[in-house]
Amino acid sequence: MANNIKILTKDIGTDGLESISVYKKLGGYLGVEKALKKMSPDEVVEEVKKAGVRGRGGAGFPMGMKWGFLAKPEGVPRYLVCNADESEPGTFKDHYLMMKNPHLLIEGMIISSFALGANKSFIYVRGELMYVIHILEKAIEEAKQAGYLGKNILGTGFDLELIVQPGGGAYICGEETALLESLEGKRGNPRNKPPFPAVKGLYQCPTVVNNVESIANTPWIIQNGGEAYSGIGIGRSTGTKLISASGHVKNPGVYELELGLPVEEFIYSDEYLGGIRDGHHLKAVVAGGSSVPILPAELILKTAEGEPRLMTYESLSEGGFVSGTMLGSGGFIAMDETTCIVRNTWNFTRFYRHESCGQCSPCREGTGWMEKVLYRIEHGNGNERDIDLLVDVAKRIEGNTICPLGDAAAWPVGSAIRHFRDEFEWHIKHPAQATAKGSIYSKS
Ligand code: NAI
Ligand code: SF4
Repeated sequence: MANNIKILTKDIGTDGLESISVYKKLGGYLGVEKALKKMSPDEVVEEVKKAGVRGRGGAGFPMGMKWGFLAKPEGVPRYLVCNADESEPGTFKDHYLMMKNPHLLIEGMIISSFALGANKSFIYVRGELMYVIHILEKAIEEAKQAGYLGKNILGTGFDLELIVQPGGGAYICGEETALLESLEGKRGNPRNKPPFPAVKGLYQCPTVVNNVESIANTPWIIQNGGEAYSGIGIGRSTGTKLISASGHVKNPGVYELELGLPVEEFIYSDEYLGGIRDGHHLKAVVAGGSSVPILPAELILKTAEGEPRLMTYESLSEGGFVSGTMLGSGGFIAMDETTCIVRNTWNFTRFYRHESCGQCSPCREGTGWMEKVLYRIEHGNGNERDIDLLVDVAKRIEGNTICPLGDAAAWPVGSAIRHFRDEFEWHIKHPAQATAKGSIYSKS
C-alpha cells in the first residue's frame, strides 16, 4: 500500500517525548485547545462519529455510536473510563503507546471527557505495569501544572480530574463491567448486559469505557476532522491500527498500519514483519489476540473464495468462524511449522481456565474440561472420542455465558480442530511419537 500514514506513532522515537515540553513542541495539546475553546461537546462527538473509528480494544464497536448511547439524566454524574488493562495474550500495543507517548492519551482523555460531559475520568492500567503507571502519573502532574487538567481548564469553565488506577491483576478485569466492579473496589466479576455501562456503569452512573488506542486517536480527529480520518483505511475499517506482532516472524514488535493493508504484505514485506524466521515457513496465525479463531497459513493470506485477505475488521472475519478469524485487539501471533497446534491450544485453554471468574457454569466447568482433555491428548493419553468431546464442550460454552471470556475460550479450540483435525488425530494414534521431544506433526 502506498500510503504510510502514522497517526499515533509519528512522534515516537523523539527524545523526551514523555515530557510535556517536547510533546507541545510537536503540536501536542492543540487538539484540547481547539475542542475546549472552539467547539461544543456535541460537535466533538459529531467529529468522532464522522471519523467512523471503531473500538480498538477488540470488539470494534463504533466509538461515536457508543458515545451517542451515553445516557444524560439531569443531575447524575457521567464518567469516562479508559480501559488500559490490556491482558490479551499477544497484545502489547497500548502498553507501548502509554510508555512512549503518555501525553497523547492524556490529551485524548481531556477531549473525550469534555465531549461526554465527564468531570472525573479514570485510566485503569494493568496492575503489573507499575512503571507505566508512574509515567502516566508524572505526565498528569505536568498537564495539571500547564493548566490542562483541574478546575476551569484554559479558562473555559470545564473541570476535569484524571485518576490512574492500577488494575486488579486478573485478565477478567479487562472486561468492561468487571473493570467497573474492580474500580468500585469489588471483586472483578462481569455484570450481565444490558444494562450497558452507557446507561448504568461506574457507581450505576452513565459511563463510557474506551480502549487506550481509541482515545489516543481523538486529538488527531479534532485537529484534522472526522472526514479526514474516515478517508484513511478502507470501507468501515477507517484509520490506522496498532498491531502487536509476535511469534516466529523476523521482525516482531508494534506496528501502526493503515487498515486495508494486505495480510501477505504485512507478514512478508521488510517494512513490517519481514517474513518467517530463516528456513521456516508459516503454519498458522492468530490475528487478534488469543481469543479469536486460529487460521492455517493458506487461509490467512486468502479467503476461502480466493480473495486476498486484508488487515480490516471485515476481511479477517470473512467467512465467519468457518474460514475467518478476527482483527480483535490486534495481537498478531504467527506460528511456523515447528509449532504443535495441540500444545498451543492446550496452552491457550489453560490460560482461560485459570482466568475464568467462575460465575457461570459453562465457562467454569467447560474450560476445565477442555483443558483436561487437551492435556491428555497432548501427553499421549487421548482416545478417539476426545476430539468430538472437545467440539461438543466448546459448542456448549459458546454464546451461553455472561461475558465474552466463554466465547474466547471456545473459539480457539473449535477453530483449531476445524483446521488442524488431522494433527489432533495423529496425537491420539501415535502417542509415543506425539510426546517424543522435538517430534512435530506436519502434513508436508
Ligand atoms: P461487546 O461487543 O459486548 O461490546 C462492545 C462495546 O460496545 C462495549 O463497550 C459495550 O458496552 C458497547 N455496546 C454494545 N452494544 C451496546 C448497546 N446496545 N448500547 C450501549 N453500548 C453498547 O464486546 P466487549 O466485551 O467490549 O469486548 C470483547 C472483545 O474484547 C473481544 O472480542 C476481544 O477481542 C477483546 N479483548 C481484548 C482484550 C485486550 O487486552 N485488549 C482482552 C480480552 C478481550
Ligand atoms: Fe466469569 Fe467465564 Fe462467566 Fe465470564 S464467561 S462471567 S469469565 S465464568
